[in-house]
Amino acid sequence: MREAVESHGASVRVRAGAGEYSVLIGHGLLADLPGLLDSHVDANRFAVITDENVAALHTEALVEKCREAGLDATLLTFPAGEASKTRKSWSILTDEMLDAGFGRDTCVVAVGGGVTTDLAGFVAATYMRGVPIVQVPTSYLAMIDASVGGKTGVDVRHGKNLVGAFHAPALVIADTAVLTTLPAVQRRQGLVEAFKHGAILDRAYLDFLVSNVEALLAVDRSVVQQAVVRSVELKAGVVTEDELEAGYRQILNFGHTVGHALEAASDFALGHGSAVALGMVVEARVGARLGVSSDGTAERLEAALSTLLSPERGPVDLERVVGFLGADKKARGGRARYVLLRQLGEVDSGTGWTHDVPEAIVTEALEGLIPTR
Ligand SMILES: NC(=O)c1ccc[n+]([C@@H]2O[C@H](COP(=O)([O-])OP(=O)(O)OC[C@H]3O[C@@H](n4cnc5c(N)ncnc54)[C@H](O)[C@@H]3O)[C@@H](O)[C@H]2O)c1
Ligand SMILES: [Zn+2]
Repeated sequence: MREAVESHGASVRVRAGAGEYSVLIGHGLLADLPGLLDSHVDANRFAVITDENVAALHTEALVEKCREAGLDATLLTFPAGEASKTRKSWSILTDEMLDAGFGRDTCVVAVGGGVTTDLAGFVAATYMRGVPIVQVPTSYLAMIDASVGGKTGVDVRHGKNLVGAFHAPALVIADTAVLTTLPAVQRRQGLVEAFKHGAILDRAYLDFLVSNVEALLAVDRSVVQQAVVRSVELKAGVVTEDELEAGYRQILNFGHTVGHALEAASDFALGHGSAVALGMVVEARVGARLGVSSDGTAERLEAALSTLLSPERGPVDLERVVGFLGADKKARGGRARYVLLRQLGEVDSGTGWTHDVPEAIVTEALEGLIPTR
C-alpha cells in the first residue's frame, strides 16, 4: 500500500526466471498504451487478443489508438466466457495469426479478464515456440490474480487448466479505470481473491478490505488503487519466491481444494469466488479441528467474507464434493492436500506448505456448511 501514489500509479516488480517484469497499476494508464508498448517491448507487430464484450467496451478503441500512434496492431476476438478457454479457441487464434503472417517479431497483447489472460497467454507461450505477451487485465480477478505469475492455459474435458505453460509476461498494465464497466457480480466474485491474499499473508490488509468493501464494489479510485497494489505485491512476493510452484506458491491455493470441488459438484452453477469463499471457511474449520489454527480464526474469516458475499451454498451434493476432492489436480496418491491457516494472515508451514487431512474431518467441516440431501 505504501507505493500507492494515486496520481502517478504504482509499479510492482516480479522476478521470473533470470529476469523480471513490472506490474503497473494506476487509473487511466491505458491512455498511453502505445507509449508503454513502445518502451517495454521489442516487437514490430502486435496481436491484440480480447473477448467480444471487452472488445466493444475498451479494446477496439485501444487498437485504434495504437494505429494512430503508428503501431502495427491487429484485433483478434473470441466469444466471452469460460467456455472459450479451450484448445479450439487456441487453434482458431493461432491459425488467424498464421494467416495474417505474424512472425517471431510479434508481441501478443491480452486485454480482458482471466479467461483472456490465460488463453492469450497460452497462445503467446506456444506461437512460434513463444513470443512476448503484455497482459492488460480488465477484471478484478485478472488484475489481482490471473495476470500476475505467468501461469497460462486452457480447460479440457478432464478439468480446468490441465493443458498450459508457464509464460511470464513482458509487462502487466492494470488500468483500474476499466473496472467501472465490470458487472457488479464479477466485482464481488473477483474480490474474493483479495480477501484470500489478506487471509493467508496480511491480516491488516484483510481488515482494510472489510472496512472498504462498499468503496471497492463502487470502484472508488483511491481505495481500488490501494487494494490492487497490495494484492499484487502479496502475489508477486509469493511467485517471486516460488515461480514454478515447487512448494511455497501452493499457499495461494488456500480455499481452492474445497472450492474447486464445490464448483465441479455444482456443475459450475456456483461462481468461482463464491466457491472459494466457502472453501476458505471449510478449510479454516479443518485447521481449527486439527488444532493448527488459533481459536476463532474460522469464525473471524467467515465474518470478514460475509461483508462481501452472502453465503451461497447449493445446490451441491456432499458425496459428489468428496468425490471431486479425490480427483483434485494437486492430490498426491489420490488424497487432496490442504493449505491451513495458523491464524488470520499466516499459513501453517505443514509439510511443504500443505497438510494431509483425513477425509472424515473434511466431510465433517463440509457437513456444517452444505445442506445434505
Ligand atoms: N493464471 C492464473 O494464475 C489464474 C489465476 C486465477 C484465475 N485464473 C483464471 O481466470 C479465469 C476467470 O477470470 P475472470 O473472472 O476475469 O473471467 P472472464 O475473463 O470470463 O471475465 C468475466 C466476465 O467479465 C467480462 N469483463 C472483463 N472485464 C470487463 C470490464 N472491464 N468491463 C466489462 N466486462 C468485463 C468478460 O467479458 C466476462 O464476461 C478462470 O478461467 C481462471 O481459471 C487464472
Ligand atoms: Zn481462485
